[in-house]
Amino acid sequence: MNIIVCQNYDHLSDYAKDVVIDTIKTKDKPVLGLATGSTPEGMYRALIKAHQNNDVSFKHVTSFNLDEYIGLGKDDPNSYHHFMDEHLFNHVDIDQNETFVPPGNTDDHEKACRDYEQNMHHHDNLDLQVLGLGINGHIGFNEPGTPFDTRTHMIELDDSTREANARFFDSIDDVPTHAITMGIETIMESKQILLLASGDSKKEAVYRLLNGEETPDFPASILHRHKNVTVILDRDAASLL
Ligand code: GLP
Repeated sequence: MNIIVCQNYDHLSDYAKDVVIDTIKTKDKPVLGLATGSTPEGMYRALIKAHQNNDVSFKHVTSFNLDEYIGLGKDDPNSYHHFMDEHLFNHVDIDQNETFVPPGNTDDHEKACRDYEQNMHHHDNLDLQVLGLGINGHIGFNEPGTPFDTRTHMIELDDSTREANARFFDSIDDVPTHAITMGIETIMESKQILLLASGDSKKEAVYRLLNGEETPDFPASILHRHKNVTVILDRDAASLL
C-alpha cells in the first residue's frame, strides 16, 4: 500500500485529481469507478477545473459508481445519481450514456445487480476505483460482516452509516434503509484503487485500516491484498498513525 499524507484537504483533493487524470491519459478507453460522499467532492471540483483549463477531456471515459440508495430515483436530490450529475457529469465533456450508477429505483434488484456486473465486464472492468472510507470501515456500502467474495448486491445499511449520512437528509427517518453496492470482490478487481480519507472523524478507521488485522468486520482491511492501492490522507485523518 502506498500511503500519502497531505497537509490538508485541498492538497489531498489535488493529489487525487492527478491520479485520476493520469489514468485517463494513459488508457485509450479509461474506465473509472467513482465514489460519492463528502470526501471526493474536492477531487471532483479539481477535475472540473482541470477540464475547464483544457488539461483533461472525459470524452472517452466510462464511469461506474460504487453504490446507490434503494428507493431514490435519479432526480432525487439525495440520490447518488444526482450527486454525480451535480458534482461532475454536468460540468465535463463525458458521454452521459457512458456514466453508470446502480439503479436505486427498480422492481428487480437482483437483475439490476447482475446487469451492472455484466456491463462492467463488457467494459473490461475498472482501471481505477476511487473509494472513501466509512467510519466503520465500509467501502462502497459493504458494511462490516459482508463476505469478501461478494459481487454487486443489495444490502441493509448499518445504523451508524445511516446516522453518518443523515446530515444530507431532513431527518434520519428519511435515510433509506437499503442500498445497492458493488461487492468487495468487484472492487478488488479494479486494476488500481485510490482510497481517500479526510478529517478527524476518520482517524480511528484509518488507524485500523493500516494497523488492524484483515477481517470482514472491517471491510477495507481486504485492500492489503490488492497490489496497487494508494491511500491519500490529510493530516487529521492520519493523526493517530
Ligand atoms: C458513504 C458511501 C461511501 C463513502 C463513505 C464515506 O456511506 N456509501 O461510498 O465513501 O460513506 O462518506 P464520506 O466521504 O461522506 O465520509
